[in-house]
Amino acid sequence: MRSNIVVAIDGYSSCGKSTLAKALAKSLNFIYVDSGAMYRAVTLYFLRNHTDISNEQAVAAALDTIELNFNARDYESHITLNGEEVSEEIRGMLVSDAVSEVSANKWVRHAMVKQQQRMGQSKNLVMDGRDIGTTVFPDAQVKFFMTADPKIRAERRYRELAAKPGNLVTLEEVFENLAHRDYADTTRKESPLIRADDAIVLDNTDMTQQEQLDFAAGHVKPFLKQA
Ligand code: DC
Repeated sequence: MRSNIVVAIDGYSSCGKSTLAKALAKSLNFIYVDSGAMYRAVTLYFLRNHTDISNEQAVAAALDTIELNFNARDYESHITLNGEEVSEEIRGMLVSDAVSEVSANKWVRHAMVKQQQRMGQSKNLVMDGRDIGTTVFPDAQVKFFMTADPKIRAERRYRELAAKPGNLVTLEEVFENLAHRDYADTTRKESPLIRADDAIVLDNTDMTQQEQLDFAAGHVKPFLKQA
């Protein structure tokens, strides 16, 4: 039995997982880890260095040189790739278009899961992703599986992207990218996105952020007393 509390939040792309995870971590004073940012940062490295994803040795060599770090008490999920702050760059369409292929790679997944498990060894934390409740922390005390109407998800993501200067992406492109990622996430061979049997489903199509936070915090509270 683990003595620290782990909250796993999995679900589809742009479901508001990280918004909820950040708010929950902040309200509980837990560490927040955005596992998607790790796959995105690896993707950025592969793109920059033209790493051949089909070449196992090239992937292993690249993974050996990649160092990822989070600011553990920063609820904005700032991530550094070999010391460089890449939080903004990993959210662009270039990385978004390539990340599914990279995150489906077995060696990439093994390396990331190992790092993630290390982060959850002793401290209370909230981690969001696709395989957190199934593969990374099957023994997490609380697991959520988030979902929302695909149109609503695309609109939310589009608004986020459109707010950034110089972004010319259309709503249709965002919708397509999400559909593609849902398909890739749920059908890949290596730890596909599936709901863990003991995960609580949270469909936030018609929920405010506060309602989601209250709902999630309500499920974690009983464990705080035991910790
Ligand atoms: O949550 P996100 O959209 O930032 O994730 C980026 C990509 O990484 C997404 O296509 C799925 C993948 N991912 C994953 O395979 N496993 C995780 N634990 C987190 C993200």
